[in-house]
Amino acid sequence: MNELFRLAVEASPVGMIVVDAHGTILFVNSEIQRLFGYREGELAGAVVDVLLPDAAKPHHAAMRAGYMRSPEQRPMGRGRDLLARRKDGSVFPVEVGLNPIRSPDGMLVMCSVLDITARKEAAERLSAANTQLERLNREKDRLLAVVSHDLRAPAATISILVDNLLVDDERRPTDLQRQLLGAIHRQVQRQIRLINDLLDHSRIESGQLTLDKQAVDLRAVLSEAIADMAGLAARFGRRLEARLGQTDICLELDEARVVNAVTNLVTNAIRFARSRVCVSLALAEEDVTVEVADDGPGVPEDELQTIFLPQQRGPSAAPVDGLGLGLAIVKGIVEAHGGRADARNVIDACGAIGGAVFRVVLPLR
Ligand SMILES: Nc1ncnc2c1ncn2[C@@H]1O[C@H](COP(=O)(O)OP(=O)(O)O)[C@@H](O)[C@H]1O
Ligand SMILES: [Mg+2]
Repeated sequence: MNELFRLAVEASPVGMIVVDAHGTILFVNSEIQRLFGYREGELAGAVVDVLLPDAAKPHHAAMRAGYMRSPEQRPMGRGRDLLARRKDGSVFPVEVGLNPIRSPDGMLVMCSVLDITARKEAAERLSAANTQLERLNREKDRLLAVVSHDLRAPAATISILVDNLLVDDERRPTDLQRQLLGAIHRQVQRQIRLINDLLDHSRIESGQLTLDKQAVDLRAVLSEAIADMAGLAARFGRRLEARLGQTDICLELDEARVVNAVTNLVTNAIRFARSRVCVSLALAEEDVTVEVADDGPGVPEDELQTIFLPQQRGPSAAPVDGLGLGLAIVKGIVEAHGGRADARNVIDACGAIGGAVFRVVLPLR
């Protein structure tokens, strides 16, 4: 064999075997000797089948003959896991490449052999870790759902009981009692909101958010929701404007959930606004857009892309009445309707941020 060729093959970090048309080994490099546990000179002249596990031997002669009829450069055993056998009988996974060489002495085949034990083990570890993670994630979702569910029932009961006390005409509560009951009521309501968010979030994460769709007039629905938030806006000293247009916009949606999504955006906007929040509605051919704009500090430009992910609460917001799940829930609800949500900043003539605009687009059909 050409000396230069021999030197090149010998220098390869990959195991190399050269066989003739009958599968007789003409040459192996030292990497092959190392991989298979043979000494120098031991393999030359042997049939290449000695490197195969016993189970693969019976078919190999026919396969070799088949390859020789139409030799081409290709991996061996496409789609199958290949095993090789060391001199001591132990077996290991390999990747084998076949390269025909038309030499003056006839057709030869150069096989490259790569020991893929480490790669296989890493893939198996990764897959096991993945399975474990998926299991844990499912378990977390299940726990979250169970806990939220069980927490919500007593909270709802407390809320009703406090309501009853507040309207108890016979034993009129004193002013102090009324004040305290009012505080309990607000706290319980807040707790219920957080629990509902947790429940919605776990449903969205596990793809189990089911919509209760009905034909509604979005303009009327939003108008009502915005009226409900007037008190909150007033408490923060913000003006809450609605530009909803004059036309009814009828579409099929889960009213409670869409109201929840818009309420989330408006609540955030009220929190961040300097003086005003504006909710507008724009109808297009195929969809309808709800925009919630404020004149607050806006969203840092590098957070615009990730702001709809859970727990993306900026440090500016602390301490706040939320879990940092609000926008993730908005996105989940909107996407469940086949729509999309995004955020941008209003940039004024001087290039400064003049507030944030959160947008929800819902398909009409
Ligand atoms: N209108 C807004 N202007 C500026 N930043 C906002 C606005 N709305 C939301 N954000 C940012 O996005 C974060 C996540 O909001 P959200 O998911 O509703 O969670 P939470 O309200 O519980 O903080 C907020 O904490 C805030 O940093
Ligand atoms: Mg929020």
